[in-house]
Amino acid sequence: MSGVDEAKRRAAEGALKLIGDAKLIGLGTGSTVEKLIGLLDPNADSVYVASSIDTAVKASSRGLKVLHPSSIRGPLDIYIDGADEVDEELNMIKGGGAALTMEKILAHHSMKRIFMVDHTKLVSRLGENRPVPVEVIRDALMLVTSRLDDMGYDVVVRRPGSGKYGPILSDTCGVIIDVRMPGDKGPEYVENELKSVPGVVETGLFLGLVDVVTVGYTNKTRVIARGSRSMDLHRQR
Ligand code: 5RP
Repeated sequence: MSGVDEAKRRAAEGALKLIGDAKLIGLGTGSTVEKLIGLLDPNADSVYVASSIDTAVKASSRGLKVLHPSSIRGPLDIYIDGADEVDEELNMIKGGGAALTMEKILAHHSMKRIFMVDHTKLVSRLGENRPVPVEVIRDALMLVTSRLDDMGYDVVVRRPGSGKYGPILSDTCGVIIDVRMPGDKGPEYVENELKSVPGVVETGLFLGLVDVVTVGYTNKTRVIARGSRSMDLHRQR
């Protein structure tokens, strides 16, 4: 297992310890969530709400009880997900796996939000290493991207590696574009500006949507709760 993989596993182990007696649990998408799914007990009486088809398939294959988001009223007890970047205020960029819209909806409708990252995802400024994924209504793609271009944003339409021409379509049927975070604008400003353009469905800026972040390293897990000091969970292995 690579160092980053090991760190993701430790972040997932840290999140597992925080689940407590939650019964209705939202699951994000990505390789760290996949590690968490591998640790969850299929015999527990918890039910999981999947943020994507990928997560639904992986959780069902593990024997977990999975619900579609359309079948629940909420609120969820806990939402658990990975992230692409986390800054010192626990604001995040998400959407590397194109599932940002349903992820943000489930996070918003949960009583507690836990995000798991390996230590390489910690940044001092959002946008340091990753662009902001943005979901756009498919038929508005050209209108939205040219408007964002006029507003000074650097935009790239995300395309699949192979096997399909044209842009990637998300599970929620939008097109994903990657927008470089401007160095001279803060995340709240960018969030409001991007959302002001009709045709933008959602952005991968998760601001104030975090309660706890578990940060995995190769030899330990750090738990950072909003508004308090971090704590190290040391492991022998
Ligand atoms: C999917 C996401 C993922 O949580 C994010 O990309 C992190 O993925 P990984 O756990 O594979 O590093 O936002 O839309």
